[in-house]
Amino acid sequence: MVNLKLPIFALCLSLVSASQADIESVSSCSKIVGSVVILDSALSTIDLSNIEEIEGGVYVLGTTNLTSLKMDSLKSLTGDILMLKNSGLTDFSAKSLSNVNNFNATLNPNLRELNLSSLSIALDFYIFSNSVSALNINSLLNARDVTIILNSQLEFISFQKLTSCSGSLSINGNFLVPDVQLPSLTQVQKNIIFSYISNLNASLLSSNGGELVFSNNEIQEFSLDSLKSIGGSLTFLENDKLKSFEMPELTTIGKGLLITDNSEPLSIQDNSFPKLASIGGMVVISGNIKTFNLPEIKNVIGNVVIQSFGDFNCNNKITQNPEYISGFGSCKWTGNPSFGPHYNPIYSIITNTSQSSVSNGIIFESFSYIKTFIFYQVLLIIFVVFIILVWRNI
Ligand SMILES: *[C@@H]1O[C@H](CO)[C@@H](O)[C@H](O)[C@H]1NC(C)=O
Ligand SMILES: *[C@@H]1O[C@H](CO)[C@@H](O)[C@H](O)[C@H]1NC(C)=O
Ligand SMILES: *[C@@H]1O[C@H](CO)[C@@H](O)[C@H](O)[C@H]1NC(C)=O
Ligand SMILES: *[C@@H]1O[C@H](CO)[C@@H](O)[C@H](O)[C@H]1NC(C)=O
Ligand SMILES: *[C@@H]1O[C@H](CO)[C@@H](O)[C@H](O)[C@H]1NC(C)=O
Repeated sequence: MVNLKLPIFALCLSLVSASQADIESVSSCSKIVGSVVILDSALSTIDLSNIEEIEGGVYVLGTTNLTSLKMDSLKSLTGDILMLKNSGLTDFSAKSLSNVNNFNATLNPNLRELNLSSLSIALDFYIFSNSVSALNINSLLNARDVTIILNSQLEFISFQKLTSCSGSLSINGNFLVPDVQLPSLTQVQKNIIFSYISNLNASLLSSNGGELVFSNNEIQEFSLDSLKSIGGSLTFLENDKLKSFEMPELTTIGKGLLITDNSEPLSIQDNSFPKLASIGGMVVISGNIKTFNLPEIKNVIGNVVIQSFGDFNCNNKITQNPEYISGFGSCKWTGNPSFGPHYNPIYSIITNTSQSSVSNGIIFESFSYIKTFIFYQVLLIIFVVFIILVWRNI
């Protein structure tokens, strides 16, 4: 790049770049007062490594020819970084950046390399529909929302130092089912969604204020060794390879417990929820369930519906202690009839036909919620793939 030396009084104000001359106009600036906006131009690489500070944001919008953008001396900026719909962009690096308001990379279909190796503070961190294969954001300490969704090439996600999210954490719909490493994460105040992942390490996570959802994952076994409480519901949906899991410290679930539609035989044994005492909503356990027990359960505020598609023993701590539940209970299974009781005696309410329609209503209600959830998720994926295809053909 031609380094045009401007006098020291050069106006280091907002940069709106569409040409080499625009870039050169700030090539001697270490601080920009205002935002940096990069629009489509003939430029294929832009190196703004002279800039150390920006009192504003960085917006890279709708470029087609730009392939590489470097801002490797930038330490902090007061605004957001937004990279939106840059069809040719393959790499972005801001290796010295430690502070940003929001970081948002959305719909950059060729963005493969993202180097934010010093980023320690961000508000929202949002990576939607890009081509990064590994996301190593290993300096980030805290954030509000962390959202990583629908990226086509993502195989590995690592936030080595992330300790808390004051909002939600969502890792969802990344096509290549990434391995997710969150070894320092202790607290998420709102919801957590893990969907389409193949491995999880979140062994220090101790509290989750909102919902905790595991859906469509390829995880076979996992444990959340430190998790003590979940403010919302705990949901496992269509985790087809899941065989077992452990939450050894979990004592309370604020709302319901829903485990359904896993195809691999799943054992929810005494070491799955060894301390779980209180569930603030209903319990729905359904699918290829081999065993189910909550050895320390004392209180379920809602109905309990257990339905297994295999040989199953309905005798468990809940069915044997109906006084622990404030709703009705049902336990059904469709394996070998000689295996055990279909209906535990205390659950005989379900055998009363005038009551069973009520229980079926509840079962179908919860299933229609699940199907709606999956339907919208699939719709979103199809929509995004469609957008990407249309755009590549333009
Ligand atoms: C992008 O590059 C092509 C080919 O060099 C050129 O024709 C086109 O004008 C460039 N786009 C812009 C916005 O300059
Ligand atoms: C990121 O940018 C996209 C496009 O402007 C927007 O829809 C999305 O809400 C933004 N995400 C965050 C967390 O700001
Ligand atoms: C980022 O760049 C630094 C310095 O060049 C390098 O050590 C590091 O491996 C890179 N990180 C990523 C995630 O690419
Ligand atoms: C999780 O990661 C930490 C740190 O990298 C490691 O010490 C621990 O063994 C891992 N736990 C699991 C279950 O993989
Ligand atoms: C079935 O339920 C109805 C309505 O609650 C009740 O009147 C009836 O006694 C029950 N029958 C048996 C056999 O429990």
